[in-house]
Amino acid sequence: MPFKPAKWPRKLRSQEWFGGDSKDAIYHRGWMQNQGFPQDLFDGRPVIGICNTWSELTPCNAHLRDLAERVKNGVWEAGGFPVEFPVFSPAESSLRPTAMMFRNLCAMDVEEALRGKCIDGIVLMVGCDKTTPALLMGAASVDLPAIVVSGGPMLNGYFRGETVGSGTHLWRFSEAVRAGEMTAAEFREAEASMSRSPGSCNTMGTASTMASMAEALGMALSGNAAIPAVDSRRRMMAQLTGRRIVQMVKDDLKPSDILTRPAFENAIRTNGAIGGSTNAVIHLLAIAGRVGLDLGLEDWDRLGRDVPTIVNLMPSGKYLMEEFFYAGGLPVVLKRLGEAELLHKDALTVSGGPIWDEVKDVQNWNEDVILPTEKALTVSGGVAVLKGNLAPNGAVLKPSAASEHLMVHRGRAVVFEDIDDYKARIEDEDLDIDETCVMVLKNCGPRGYPGMAEVGNMGLPPKVLRKGITDMVRISDARMSGTAYGTVVLHTSPEAALGGPLAVVRDGDMISLDVPNRRIELQITDEELTTRLAEWQPSVERPSGGWAQLYHDRVMGAETGADLDFLVGCRGNDVAREAH
Ligand code: FES
Repeated sequence: MPFKPAKWPRKLRSQEWFGGDSKDAIYHRGWMQNQGFPQDLFDGRPVIGICNTWSELTPCNAHLRDLAERVKNGVWEAGGFPVEFPVFSPAESSLRPTAMMFRNLCAMDVEEALRGKCIDGIVLMVGCDKTTPALLMGAASVDLPAIVVSGGPMLNGYFRGETVGSGTHLWRFSEAVRAGEMTAAEFREAEASMSRSPGSCNTMGTASTMASMAEALGMALSGNAAIPAVDSRRRMMAQLTGRRIVQMVKDDLKPSDILTRPAFENAIRTNGAIGGSTNAVIHLLAIAGRVGLDLGLEDWDRLGRDVPTIVNLMPSGKYLMEEFFYAGGLPVVLKRLGEAELLHKDALTVSGGPIWDEVKDVQNWNEDVILPTEKALTVSGGVAVLKGNLAPNGAVLKPSAASEHLMVHRGRAVVFEDIDDYKARIEDEDLDIDETCVMVLKNCGPRGYPGMAEVGNMGLPPKVLRKGITDMVRISDARMSGTAYGTVVLHTSPEAALGGPLAVVRDGDMISLDVPNRRIELQITDEELTTRLAEWQPSVERPSGGWAQLYHDRVMGAETGADLDFLVGCRGNDVAREAH
């Protein structure tokens, strides 16, 4: 059913703070006026919060203060009153133990800030990986009109004449050093070439994937995902977003109107078409949980199976986000999905209209970047969801980043009990391992690491790399950076720290991977598995106090999005009472 805008004018939520002549109203207005805001700004116009993840310690979002000014311009132009505020900013590149441990903390910060503040609508300023899902999760739990504007990707990197992609080349160069093909000095020289402008990772890593997810979900203006951070059109996008949120408030167009099952199905298929990050699985499941939608791993497998990967970007392909933007960006991909009847064309977006209206007339300006279907990188893109006695609740693998010859494989397990064990032994020339083995890493799941670190694409042993081998089957309960690649089974659930079957794999066990049939099996008898599980003892210590303890105690499994159990659902935006 088409969206029916609310009647305007009407009393807004912000008037609970600013309306009338009570002592409380004068208190709220008066204190705001210490910033020089004239009195007539409190007259009932939409108050727009600009929720900013700017931080100099989140380099990918360090330009968002500037971009926020452009958003404000748009809000002013449309007759709104913009107010910017910071929220916790989880930085992928520097936050320890892992930014993922803080996604839910950021979402909680956002949720409580939105609900507790005197605002009517919200612009979500995001960029680095976790900031996009965190702000969407928080906004979904509050359900005020909300719109995303991304910071945009960095410009292409170049090193010695070659294009260099964020993250992807970090892994490649690192392996080249370990294989003796590149010196440490050359690696250091390449360092600055990878990040030569403001913005998020320029590959189809998690940041670009999540920007694409926000657009495919309908939560950002069309074209938002790919515009480079430093392109003038990024600033225009911010200004247009500011204009648009004011009208969304007037129309009362909320996340619950947009984040429907068709929107999530569009996003899942889009992820297949762009060769997006496996992290999108966890984040979309968590966002769906916030709006009370029953989305599951099986939806990812079912919906992504028939979607060819047509975006030729690293890590699966050749190009970077800059070329994707010049080719037409995500609207071209959405149009292609629509033409293939793989898009719910009538899904509502922040525009107030159906998604198809936004994309039906766009053109593909470079068919080597956005490929014709017959030249797709992978016929069956998306995310393969594996099940079996090693992953009763599921595990995922990204076919477009994997090696065809390893998609059906049986090999001897070489087990690392945790990431420290892996780091201590992987360089050992006496390690009993070759390219036919299956590398197994335990205790890196949500509770185990804690925070489910991006270590699932563990580097290969040097003695294997020196043979020119670049891929082996790897299995863990960890995640993998969206910029990474390989035949890597991730998010194995239940995780080892909870006593899932992964916890009882031993060196020398045989493991079989069968991606076409979606199976992952530990080849021991049921009796043996039962005995081992009964004997298992937890090895991960409970953190003592603080966020880490709360996270450890309440985080849910990867197959549900690794949210905290008490944060699932929408708690609305009722204004709390106060007394002065
Ligand atoms: Fe921030 Fe990649 S590290 S987007």
